[in-house]
Amino acid sequence: MKPINVGLLGLGIVGSGTIDVLSRNAGEIARRAGREIRVVAATARDLTKERSVSLEGIKLVNDAAAIVNDPDIDIVVELVGGIEPTRQWVLAAIANGKHVVTANKALLAVHGNEIFAAAQKRGVMVAFEAAVAGGVPIIKALREGLTANRIEWIAGIINGTTNFILSEMRAKGLSFETALKQAQALGYAEADPTFDIEGVDAAHKLTLLSAIAYGIPIQFDKAYTEGISALTAKDIAYAEQLGYRIKLLGITRRAEQGIELRVHPTLIPAKRLIANVEGVMNAILVKGDAVGPTLYYGAGAGSAATASAVVADLVDVTRMLTADPEQRVPHLAFQADQLHNTPILPMGDVRTGCYLRLRAYDKPGVMADVTRILADLSISIDAMLQKEAEEGEDVVDVIILTHASPEAAINTAIKRIEALATIAGKVVRIRLEELS
Ligand code: NDP
Ligand code: HSE
Repeated sequence: MKPINVGLLGLGIVGSGTIDVLSRNAGEIARRAGREIRVVAATARDLTKERSVSLEGIKLVNDAAAIVNDPDIDIVVELVGGIEPTRQWVLAAIANGKHVVTANKALLAVHGNEIFAAAQKRGVMVAFEAAVAGGVPIIKALREGLTANRIEWIAGIINGTTNFILSEMRAKGLSFETALKQAQALGYAEADPTFDIEGVDAAHKLTLLSAIAYGIPIQFDKAYTEGISALTAKDIAYAEQLGYRIKLLGITRRAEQGIELRVHPTLIPAKRLIANVEGVMNAILVKGDAVGPTLYYGAGAGSAATASAVVADLVDVTRMLTADPEQRVPHLAFQADQLHNTPILPMGDVRTGCYLRLRAYDKPGVMADVTRILADLSISIDAMLQKEAEEGEDVVDVIILTHASPEAAINTAIKRIEALATIAGKVVRIRLEELS
């Protein structure tokens, strides 16, 4: 059978990995796909740069338009990243009747509704397994394996860079900056690493997962996003003493009034499997009404691991090329005319437990004032810990764990506690999930 011709946009970490995996496993991939899949053309910013893989047999072109307009190319693989000009290239490829494989979660989280609508209209596939959790086949699992279920919630470690940083800080005592530099050297971080650190990359991925899980449009602008840049080694250590680990979690939950969509550092009981996911590994817990909880684990970033997902998409697209578009798995799992407009809940309406760390002057009545504020707002205390004052300091750290309470009530409590004359500085708040 005629081979499938792939045009590759980007020859960086994932692009090179894709060429490597396609060539090293060419025989098995062809047996699975039913025909050979070969990269015939590629582009990058600097075509003179030395690459880690052989580009023999691949035509190098200095203009992406030459690839998306080439009538001999069947599938365009976009591994450049960023929103423009990738959006134009992807839309042009679709308009030319080409299928697209991409790892670009930023593009899909922001313009996915437009891109999937264009692909649906043109009858082509846009596959994006590599866009969420690197090599972990979570899109396939949610769209197909769990299709019988009403998804109740998803909680995932879906950014390898931040999980790597948190693991290195906790286990090896590395500084934030050193751990980030290592993650960048290993090829895990985004071109702009603030996307990783500030939770934006995780929010891009979570937004895609929520659309697939609940049959709603992609709504990145409604995601609550908080990263790990404000986390201190002190809070990581206190959490540990209380039996918790801190992870950057993406959580999307079907609540009574709408859908929660949030990324933030989260205390998780240390005994949970997901709390023990370290380094670049990702893990996604999905709770379906029929199957119960299921957990998906694997490398969330890196060259070969991400290429594994890109190539899986290439095989999937190759197998489905001749299928009637109506018979293919819908891009976002639900039929495009069956999306619901269930609202995304404002963060104030979300309920979570909380870790609160206060700096209190060691004076009588301080704790009574704090607990009264919490009681007045119906915030129930789960545990409380007062640390010894450090040498030369007249304030002590007090840690309070609360039971699940509305975010708005916790916000009010924090304001009132910070206004007490006996409290120094800001209250540190980290949300807590039991994930039971
Ligand atoms: P890299 O920065 O390593 O590679 C980007 C590639 O795109 C480079 O080859 C670069 O060229 C090329 N490029 C950049 N701008 C242009 C342009 N204007 N025209 C043509 N080529 C261009 O990124 P990654 O491989 O890490 O990431 C690629 C995509 O995969 C991103 O969307 C990222 O979010 C996603 N992703 C990355 C993962 C990872 O572990 N790294 C994991 C999962 C998804 P040159 O080499 O000449 O500079
Ligand atoms: N920067 C991303 C991460 C790459 O660290 O998870 C994988 O999407």
